[in-house]
This record gives sequence, structure tokens and C-alpha cells, in this order.
Amino acid sequence: MVDGEQLQRIVRETGLEDDPEAQKLLRRAATTENQHLRDQIKKRLIQKAAEKTQHPFNENPPQNSPLNSIYLGKTQNQDRVYTLKEEQFSQHILTTGQSGAGKTTLFYNLMTQISKPFWAFDRKQDYRHLTNQMDDLLVLPWKTLRFNPLKPPPGVDPDKWAQVFTEIFSHATSLLSGSKNFLLKHIINLYIDFNLYQEDPPLYPTLFELKASIEQDNINYTRKSSNYQDTVLNRIEPILLTAESTFNCNTGYPIQDLIQRNVVFEFEGLNRDIQRFLQEILFAYTYEYQLAQNKRTGELDLVIFFDEGKQAFSVYLEQQTASGIPEIDDLTARARQMGIGLVVGDQEASKLTDSLKANTKTKILLPVGDQKQFQAISESMNLDRRQQDFAKTLDTGQAVIQTGNREPVPVDLLNYQVEQDVDDETLRETQEQKWQDLEYEEREIQNNPFYQKHGNDRTTLDDF
Ligand SMILES: Nc1ncnc2c1ncn2[C@@H]1O[C@H](COP(=O)(O)OP(=O)(O)OP(=O)(O)O)[C@@H](O)[C@H]1O
Ligand SMILES: [Mg+2]
Repeated sequence: MVDGEQLQRIVRETGLEDDPEAQKLLRRAATTENQHLRDQIKKRLIQKAAEKTQHPFNENPPQNSPLNSIYLGKTQNQDRVYTLKEEQFSQHILTTGQSGAGKTTLFYNLMTQISKPFWAFDRKQDYRHLTNQMDDLLVLPWKTLRFNPLKPPPGVDPDKWAQVFTEIFSHATSLLSGSKNFLLKHIINLYIDFNLYQEDPPLYPTLFELKASIEQDNINYTRKSSNYQDTVLNRIEPILLTAESTFNCNTGYPIQDLIQRNVVFEFEGLNRDIQRFLQEILFAYTYEYQLAQNKRTGELDLVIFFDEGKQAFSVYLEQQTASGIPEIDDLTARARQMGIGLVVGDQEASKLTDSLKANTKTKILLPVGDQKQFQAISESMNLDRRQQDFAKTLDTGQAVIQTGNREPVPVDLLNYQVEQDVDDETLRETQEQKWQDLEYEEREIQNNPFYQKHGNDRTTLDDF
């Protein structure tokens, strides 16, 4: 005798829970005593389960108009085109796959098709090769970047920026709340010394003055404060030692102009803390700038590609933050309103924050061999057991794509071949003029309000 429980078990075990017809059949079975009808229902469910084993996906790609659509590839069984609307970028995209799975290739495809400006945070000098195809692409190896993270974005209140900077710096370099407050106090004092609260400030303090200010803090108070002093200096010093040229400016390149261009920021050779700090502070800068400009339309202005997401969106740092959600997670959730879309790639889904997984509406699963990593991503995509079994057999360039509440679809992604031949010399030849056209102001020492007030600290200046 067929009973309701048995039918439910069939549905559950064969992954038909989300199937509307199966649900309808279950409801019908629950409201009838007719044994023949129940037999028929069981037969139909088993038949559906068998169909599903062969094709665990309904290949229903989104139907987008070709205008402003990004072409990703063809669905695996039915050869239908799979596209993403450009607006979907503002709801963020997450792609995971093992080394060689096809993440960078996918990013090439997205970058060359998207009509809005994009930034790439690049750790492996992957995207400089696109200069062959894209004349307007600006590539900024970190040694050529000029950036003063203590200069608030235009329109942003210095107090607000002091807090954002402190949050980001503390997140990127794992500072806890005591040191964090100590840091914030010094930044606010610097802003007062530099008269930033007046209109049209002549000069902005830099990380160098921040370091000097902390060094000169003659701690006559508790031992605890002296620990904070050491801790914060231990974070700032390596940054200035490695990337002195990047931060040695009162005003760096005009980021607000860079938001309107395609830019590759190259971070190869920097240690992880500094890479993380630069990625996060640049992201926060664009967000606060957009917010200050009242760009709340939600219309996409900029897409940022993070090719190793766990640097900025690290689950370990998320857990470490005693004060709750770190600034960076908060930004992910809110970036959409400010017209900033994120495309995040990584090999290890288990190391990404829950917030990132929850806030990326499109997920692209490429081959993942490691069981733990596979589990982490397939769970966040709600793949049923059969779909998971299928996804474990993916090959290079093959993906399962899920967007919003739509069912996942297996897609053969478009390939993108690019000559990997841009070495440093070639890059300099093609980019030098672009670099020279970017304006910045070197750090002023003579008329520097900090040194005027506190004197030139010899140890500070000799360090560099
Ligand atoms: N869609 C595709 N179709 C055909 N071949 C592909 C496709 N995507 C990637 N490949 C092949 O796989 C190689 C590796 O891809 P890719 O560099 O994109 O991997 P990755 O996921 O970025 O790896 P890593 O994590 O090591 O950076 C490419 O050079 C290309 O030959
Ligand atoms: Mg790659």
C-alpha cells in the first residue's frame, strides 16, 4: 500500500523537493483515499526521478535582451545562450573554482564585454595582458601608484573618514579595539593639526606623519597604552618601508577620476596585509565617495574584480572582529545602492565570509576537487544531491551558474585566449604616458604643519 510518507521520501531522496509538479502530486496524494490514484502518483514520481538522474537541471537560462547583456556561454545540454544583464553586476557575483578551473578566463570575458568602468585588484599580473586588446586600460603596478589613504574622498567629512580608515586599517592588519581607539585618536589629532576641519585645507596628513605622531606620543600614562603604541607602529612601519613611494604624497592620483576608467591595480610583491589594506581602503574610498556624491540611484557605475576574495572577505577576520560586522562586510551589503558591483573569485569557498556568500546574487561554480570547498559553495547555492553529483564532474571552463532564486544551470563558458606577453618593459612603453598624465602632490616637509608644530623628529626622517 502506498502511503503519503513513502511518497514524500521518494521526493526527498531524489531531490524533487523544488519541483512544482512533484509538490502538486504530493498534495493530491494527501487529499485522496483512492489507492489506484496513489499508485499512479508513485509511478509518475519515480519516472520524474529517473528523468532527473539523467538531467538534474532544468536548463532555463535567463531570457535577457541582447542589449547590455554579457554573454557567458552555452547551456550544456540544450545549447541555449546564457547571459547576464549588466545590472546584475550591482548585486555582485561570486565564482569559485580550483586552480586552473577558469576563473581568470571568465574575468577576461566579463571585463572585455562590460560597458561600465571596471577596476581589477590583481595579485598575479594577469590583467595587464588585456592592454593588447583594450587601448584605454590603465595598469598601475603598486610602485607607480600614488595614494594617500588619510586624505578623505571629496565631500566626505574628515571625522567620518578617520573612522572608516581606522576600521579598515584595523581589519586589514588585525588590530583589536584598544589599539584601534589609540589609532583613531592620533588621526583625529592630525586632522586638527592640519586644519582639515576648515574649508579648502591646504595639505593632507600622510601615513608618515601618522607614524611620527604615534612615535612622539610620550606615553606617561599606563603600560597598556604603550602596548598600543608598539602594536600600531608594528603595523604601520612595514607598510611604509615596503611601499614608501606609494604613500609619499599629500594628494595622490584623483581616485574620483579613476572611478570612471578601466584600471588594473597590481599588487604582486606586496605582503598580504598590505594587499588587503590597499584593496579594502580603495573599495571603502569609492563607497564613501559615491555616498557623499548622493549616488543612491543604484545604477551601476563601477565593477570591482577581486581575484582572491578571501584576502578582503576572510572568514577568519570576520570571526575575529569582536565588535560585530567588520566594515568590509557592511560595505558589501550596501555597495549595490552606491552603484558598485563586485565580482569575487577564489579557490576556497570555505574561507570566504558568510556575508559575502549571502550578498552575491550570482554564483558561478567551476570545477572544485576539494570536498570541503565543494561543500561550502554548493551549500550556498542550494544544489540538491544530484546536482552536486553532476557538479563534481565539471571540467575546465564548465560551470554551474545560479542567479537569484532561479534554478542553477550548467554552462560551457566561453574561452578567452590572450597572449601573456606583457612584461614590465612592454608595460612601461605602453603605459608611461598614462602614468605621467596622472596628477599628484609629493609630500611636503618644509611647510608641513605637523613638523612645524612638533619639530622634525630625526629618528622618523632618518628611517626613510
Ligand atoms: N572557458 C574555457 N574554455 C576552454 N578552456 C578554458 C576555459 N577557461 C579556462 N580554460 C583553460 O584553462 C586554463 C586555466 O584557466 P584560468 O587561468 O582561467 O584558471 P584560474 O581558475 O584562474 O586558475 P588560478 O586559480 O590558478 O588562477 C586557461 O589557460 C585555458 O587554457
Ligand atoms: Mg586565475
